[in-house]
Amino acid sequence: MSTILEVKNLVVEYGAIRAVKGISFKVEKGSVMAILGANGAGKSATLRTISGIVIPRDGEIVFEGRNISGKSIYSIAKSGISQSPEGRQILSGLTVEENLKVGTYSLVKKYRDAGAKTASENQEYVYAMFPVLKERRKQQANTLSGGEQQMLAISRALMSSPKMLILDEPSLGLAPIIVKNIFKCIKEISAAGTTILIVEQNALQTLKIADYAIVLELGRISIEGKAEDLIHDQRLIDAYLGNKK
Ligand SMILES: Nc1ncnc2c1ncn2[C@@H]1O[C@H](COP(=O)(O)OP(=O)(O)O)[C@@H](O)[C@H]1O
Ligand SMILES: [Mg+2]
Repeated sequence: MSTILEVKNLVVEYGAIRAVKGISFKVEKGSVMAILGANGAGKSATLRTISGIVIPRDGEIVFEGRNISGKSIYSIAKSGISQSPEGRQILSGLTVEENLKVGTYSLVKKYRDAGAKTASENQEYVYAMFPVLKERRKQQANTLSGGEQQMLAISRALMSSPKMLILDEPSLGLAPIIVKNIFKCIKEISAAGTTILIVEQNALQTLKIADYAIVLELGRISIEGKAEDLIHDQRLIDAYLGNKK
């Protein structure tokens, strides 16, 4: 396996608040990497910095051998990173199909690998994964249920044929049966070859689909390791997994 993303000594600040205090980790190409941790640990700050929404205070973010830290959101998206943000952020006044179209904005042919999927192929791909979105393609996005909106947010992120898909709390606020479906689809996306970087509160379910995980605590990595080992790690069980096993 080769490294697709390397984060080195990343520091992120929001004004006077140091949200991320010098973290380093690697994501292997084709793997599922999880970032776990309590509220306010710096998980979203890390993701938002990787995708260019926030400029890092210090450190390096290397994607496919290129330092992308501090580059524009558009340039980072074009390099093959796509984020489904916390809280979904769908465009409520647009239809399902229009929301998907927005996701293709960084799908610039000349920047894609030869043989990359077209927008219509991607649309078929996400409709096959989430048939309910196809049924509702002409509906305004604000008429969708929470689960459907989450499916739309993930689908929109997939519309640009990303090499790495970033998911920030995809199961937040959803009923268990919907969560199960979302995790099943994340597994499918991974099986199709897309690298996944996921932040989740739902630690157990996430460790079951992840290859590797880091746990953030107040902006620092407190625990890291293979997901299959962390499922049995007493520190994690005490802090996040409880007796849900
Ligand atoms: N836009 C912001 N302005 C100021 N502080 C922020 C902002 N977003 C997050 N923070 C602070 O940064 C820290 C990390 O937040 P965040 O990365 O969102 O945590 P989480 O792990 O829950 O995703 C927290 O202390 C939070 O209050
Ligand atoms: Mg967050």
